Amino acid sequence: MENARSAEIRRKQRELLFPNVGTYYQEPLALESGKGMFLKDVEGKEYLDFYGGILTVSVGHCNPRVTEAVIAQQKKLVHVSTLYATLPQLELAEKVVQIRPMQETAKAFFTNSGTEANETAVALAKEATGRQELVVLRHNYAGRSTLALSMMGNKNYRPKTQSEVPSIRFAHAPYCYRCDFGLKYPDCGVACAKDLKSLIETTTDGEIGAFMAARSRCPSPATTAASSSPTRCRRPGAGPVGSGGASSSTGSSRTSSPAPRAWPTGSPSA
Ligand SMILES: Cc1ncc(COP(=O)(O)O)c(C=O)c1O
Repeated sequence: MENARSAEIRRKQRELLFPNVGTYYQEPLALESGKGMFLKDVEGKEYLDFYGGILTVSVGHCNPRVTEAVIAQQKKLVHVSTLYATLPQLELAEKVVQIRPMQETAKAFFTNSGTEANETAVALAKEATGRQELVVLRHNYAGRSTLALSMMGNKNYRPKTQSEVPSIRFAHAPYCYRCDFGLKYPDCGVACAKDLKSLIETTTDGEIGAFMAARSRCPSPATTAASSSPTRCRRPGAGPVGSGGASSSTGSSRTSSPAPRAWPTGSPSA
């Protein structure tokens, strides 16, 4: 029977996984292997991957250097917890803290997920400032913990019944490509910045613990307008503008075609 293996895998996925594990398309591709920019499904049909595993496979699928390094480490030492010092973690930290805009005094903290990175960033900001209130961006995707779901600026990813972490305010994303106000720079008079000022003044105590937003590498609209050459602009860690791709920095907006709903039935166990 045609595509029987794919059909069987999709059936098992529906049977065994929580329905909040959303997929692209009702009949998602059942993938088996990948090499560089190509993927193969379980029937051996090849696909050109434009998506890079939600931008996390930026060196291509099964990159031989990565694979060999993983195998070599797996044979040496795998898990000893961070209660001990190990060299590979420090070697990676050394590389990470050199990436700009990190400062020379930066310190690394490794997490297992974007959700945990966001949790840590918020905890650090609250510790450092002694303040509670957070300002996040509408349209952002933040992860699946209670805090991340409370910070989520996209209702499609929120469960209908969730415990909200208090003191989170949602600002308009300063995103000229898809302006929430339907305006164009500079005629907009930076409506989003004015709205942020009003949001802080009218809905917070003015003592913001953290503004959660990806730092933009884009030139300001003014710079872009003045430049004679067209500027191709990427949001940090995210795909080309408008791709709707994810990154691991809260505040990256998903404003293009909707990704699969994380809680399609309203309740993860429904
Ligand atoms: C902007 C952003 N923040 C946080 C996350 C959550 O990351 P994770 O699924 O690794 O917890 C994602 C994941 O897609 C993301 O795109």
